[in-house]
Amino acid sequence: MAVSKKDIETLTETSFEILKKNRRTTDGHAYTVPSPETYPYQWLWDSCFHAIVLSLRDPEAAKEELRSLVSRQFGSGLIPHIIYWVKTDRINIDWGVEGTSSITQPPLLAYAVWRVYEQDADKAFLEEMYPSLYHYYNFLLSDRDPRHNNLSGIINPDESGEDNSPRFDTLIGLPPAQTKEENLKNRIELVKRNKSCNFDAAFCMKKFFWVKDVPFNTILIHSLGFLANIAEELDRKDDSLYFGEQKLRVTDAMRDRLLDGEVFWSAEGKNYEKIKVKTWALFAPLFANVATQEEASYTVRTYLENEHEFKTSYLIPTVSQSEPSYDPEGYWRGPVWIATNWLVYNGLRKYRGFEHIAEAVRESSAKLLLKSGFREYFNPETGAGLGATQFTWGSLIVDMYRGA
Ligand code: GLC
Repeated sequence: MAVSKKDIETLTETSFEILKKNRRTTDGHAYTVPSPETYPYQWLWDSCFHAIVLSLRDPEAAKEELRSLVSRQFGSGLIPHIIYWVKTDRINIDWGVEGTSSITQPPLLAYAVWRVYEQDADKAFLEEMYPSLYHYYNFLLSDRDPRHNNLSGIINPDESGEDNSPRFDTLIGLPPAQTKEENLKNRIELVKRNKSCNFDAAFCMKKFFWVKDVPFNTILIHSLGFLANIAEELDRKDDSLYFGEQKLRVTDAMRDRLLDGEVFWSAEGKNYEKIKVKTWALFAPLFANVATQEEASYTVRTYLENEHEFKTSYLIPTVSQSEPSYDPEGYWRGPVWIATNWLVYNGLRKYRGFEHIAEAVRESSAKLLLKSGFREYFNPETGAGLGATQFTWGSLIVDMYRGA
């Protein structure tokens, strides 16, 4: 059954209700928890998703969300991926600092700021956010690229936002078949090691975990373009040129080092060994126009429209069915997440000839939410809802149908 206008209205209202119910204020900082029981804190890329959706109805709430997010920025420029505003016994990891984690997450922030600005042209807000953006992106371009290769490295799978993705199995020493507990144990081990060298990428990277991830760098490129726009709006011409230039450099480096034939793969270590595990990351480069039309067509045809790979009943599984690690209910190991759908949907729309598949991704997202509610992730074969409940990422459906 097709998704009706009424269905979209219902999903829109539910989205804003959940964003409201999950809203918290601590010490004057307002933020939205992704799920009250499972994720009772503030997360970096989640807050960017929240701000993008909130901006469509309540730009002030979106601004508060982003202000809270940057309020715990480190002196180095890093923005931590979790802020534990009110500590509970959930996610008890010793990150070596008080009140936050010591790692980051996909850098969608400049884009989120721009989307809020688009709604009400509040230059004072841009001005207020600019120093945080400036230091954060420079941190990613320098501390996370100590050898000046123009790609930003991640030091833990969680920095990708896809904690248990099979892209990282070999690096954390696990086989394709594994339990969630084993995976967590090894990631915690990694945190301990990182802690011993103060989470310093330049020193940690050689020894433990150093990945030039495709979605992370794609999102970086995308946001650098918006950061250049922001600098331009603020009459900071030199900064605007600088960030525009950085955007091109990272794009070139992705093409030089992560592209094999028509397909982009994440790479690890100083020799840029490609990690040839087929995940949704194959489609991520479209989000920032990093792939050419030919490369995008090849990748979509070969993988997304292929029933043995990513063409499941509900789109888009996070891992190809042809991978030994594929598990339709495994955490980041097969199910559909609405945020990855949102990224790919927006990517597909930047190219020619993908109208149908983009619509199928959007429609699948709506159908999953209608069928199973605002769950954290969904079985791509049955559409069953899995993981956290009252999960905010479903609200990205509002953005996908914006103006429809
Ligand atoms: C999980 C996800 C991560 C997300 C967080 C809060 O850790 O893997 O991407 O930010 O939950 O929703």
